[in-house]
Amino acid sequence: MFTRHVNVTNNNSGYDVKVGRGLFENIGVEISNLNFKSHVLTPDGLKFAVITDSNVGELYLETCIKSLREYGDAAAVIFNAGEASKNINTFGQILEGLAANKLTRGDLIIALGGGVVGDMAGFAAGCYMRGIKFIQVPTSLLAAVDSSVGGKTAIDLTAGKNLAGLFYQPELVLCDIDLLKSLPEIEMQCGMAEALKTGILRGDDLFKFFENGNARENLDEVIALCVDYKAGVVERDEREQGERKLLNLGHTIGHAIELCSNYEIKHGLAIAQGMKIINKIAFRLGLSSQETFNRIDKALNNFNFDFNLNFKAEELFNAILADKKRKGDVITLVLPVEIGACELKDVNINALPALLELGLMREE
Ligand SMILES: NC(=O)c1ccc[n+]([C@@H]2O[C@H](COP(=O)([O-])OP(=O)(O)OC[C@H]3O[C@@H](n4cnc5c(N)ncnc54)[C@H](O)[C@@H]3O)[C@@H](O)[C@H]2O)c1
Ligand SMILES: [Zn+2]
Repeated sequence: MFTRHVNVTNNNSGYDVKVGRGLFENIGVEISNLNFKSHVLTPDGLKFAVITDSNVGELYLETCIKSLREYGDAAAVIFNAGEASKNINTFGQILEGLAANKLTRGDLIIALGGGVVGDMAGFAAGCYMRGIKFIQVPTSLLAAVDSSVGGKTAIDLTAGKNLAGLFYQPELVLCDIDLLKSLPEIEMQCGMAEALKTGILRGDDLFKFFENGNARENLDEVIALCVDYKAGVVERDEREQGERKLLNLGHTIGHAIELCSNYEIKHGLAIAQGMKIINKIAFRLGLSSQETFNRIDKALNNFNFDFNLNFKAEELFNAILADKKRKGDVITLVLPVEIGACELKDVNINALPALLELGLMREE
C-alpha cells in the first residue's frame, strides 16, 4: 500500500491518501483508525452516511454498509449517476437526506463514487451543520488520480460548471484500485487522460508509462505518482493562487470543446484534445522543442480517442469567452514547454484567436 500524507491548513493535522488493493471491504477498520475514533466509543456510536450514485451504489453500497455497521449506524443517500445530477436540486436532496437520518456534527460522511459524488458529497459535508467530517472513497480513475485529493468541492449552476462550492478537505482518502475493475472502458480512458496530464506536469518518472503505452499495466504506480504530485501541489497552493493552476493543463481549450459539443464529448477526451492543441501552440510559439512536442503528441496518440474534432478557432474562442470563471480580459494558459516543467502564462483574450488558429493549423 502507498500512503501519502497531505499537509493542509484547512484540516488541522492534514490527512492520508491511502492507495492499494483490498482496502474497501475493511473501510470500517480504516475509519476506526482515524483520530476521532473516540466517537465510536460514545453510547450512541458513530453514525455514518454514505453518499453515492445509482451505479456505484448498486455495486458497492452493501459491502460498505456491512463494514461500517461494525462501528456504528450507517445510512445511505443515493442519487442518479451522471454529471446532470451535479446540481442544486440533488444537492438539496442530499442535505435533506442527511438531516432525515439525523446526522450530527460528530458523525461522518463517506463519499463513495467518482468525481461527481466526491464533489457533491464534499460540498454537502462542508455545508451541513456548518461542516461535518467526511472521507473520499474514489471509484473512478479520474477521482483516484485527481478529484478526491485536494479538497475542491462543487456543484454546477445553470450558468456553468462548478460555480458553487467550497475548499473543504477530507479526513482520509481511501483509494482501493480493485474498485476500478468495474469502471466502464470509456471512463477508464478519460481518467487516463487526466493521469497523462499529471505525467506531463510531473516529469519522466510518470510520463514514461504514457510514452511507452504501458500505463494500464502499471496502474498502481501511475495512481500513486499522480496522488503524490497532486498532494504536493495542494500543499504548496491550497487555494489555487498560483501553482495549482498548472493542473488546468489542457483544460481551458478542453472546457471550450465540452461546451461546443453540448457536453456530448466527455471531459477526458475534451482535455486530451485540449492538450493536443496547447502542445502545438507551445511548439509553434517556439517555447518547446521538437522533441518535447513529439513526445507529448505520441503519448496522446496512444489513446483510442478521435482527435479529428472539427471545431473552428472562432467557436472555441466564443466558448472560452463564455466561461464565467474568466477574470477580466486575462486568461491563464498552461504551456507544456518541457515535460516536468510546464509554465503558466497570462494572455490577453484578444491574443487568443490567433493562438487557437496556431493550435488548430494542420501540418503542411
Ligand atoms: N474536485 C476536483 O478537484 C475535481 C477535479 C477534476 C474533476 N472534478 C469533477 O469530477 C467530475 C467527473 O468525475 P468522474 O469522471 O469520476 O465522473 P462520475 O462521478 O460521473 O463517474 C463516471 C461514471 O462512472 C460511474 N462509476 C464510477 N465508479 C464506478 C465503478 N467503480 N464501477 C462502475 N461504474 C462507476 C459513475 O456512476 C458514472 O456513471 C466532474 O463533475 C468534474 O467537475 C473535480
Ligand atoms: Zn479535468
